[in-house]
Amino acid sequence: MKKRIVIFASGNGTNTQNVIKYFQNTNVAEVVCVFSNKKDAKALNRSKALKVEALSFSKAEMLAPKGLLSLLKERKPDLIVLAGFLLKFPENIIKTFQNKVINIHPALLPKYGGKGMYGHYVHQAVVKNKETETGITIHYVNQQYDEGAIIFQKKINIAPTDTPEDVAIKVQGLEHQWFSKVIEEVLFNGKM
Ligand code: GAR
Repeated sequence: MKKRIVIFASGNGTNTQNVIKYFQNTNVAEVVCVFSNKKDAKALNRSKALKVEALSFSKAEMLAPKGLLSLLKERKPDLIVLAGFLLKFPENIIKTFQNKVINIHPALLPKYGGKGMYGHYVHQAVVKNKETETGITIHYVNQQYDEGAIIFQKKINIAPTDTPEDVAIKVQGLEHQWFSKVIEEVLFNGKM
């Protein structure tokens, strides 16, 4: 039986697309559904184009005691993956799926995490502070933003001339190289 992955994404969805394709080339797991809080998220179009169910929900549906949680339970996920999901993840879902929700963050946590630190804001802060390295963190999700146990980190150097856009490209490269592999490890070994 293939393991079942559900992805949550708010935006562009390059990681979502990558993870879907990676597992479509295996017979060990599959992305069964992609959820978004934005009905026009590119992540949903990318998923549909790859023949994966893609659904959006409102904030009210997300927070309703039975709303999103019921939809999620019906899909029987072995792992829930946040790939650029920019809202705080609902507590009732975290409690129901203990140690089954992971997130990717575009920096080396605990640095550059927390509320408001997402996407481009992270890379802007990293460049402003003249960091010489940054990277990616994949971690379990708990009730605090970006504070769950770290599963995997990978570093990359920043050149003094790098702009936030340059850093974004480097970090995204790392994400695409590693995220699917780490998901596979978590599914089969519980950690990396
Ligand atoms: C990724 O870089 C991911 O690390 C980041 O959003 C981007 C989504 O890109 N997530 C966060 O900042 C979460 N705090 P994508 O939509 O192209 O996959």
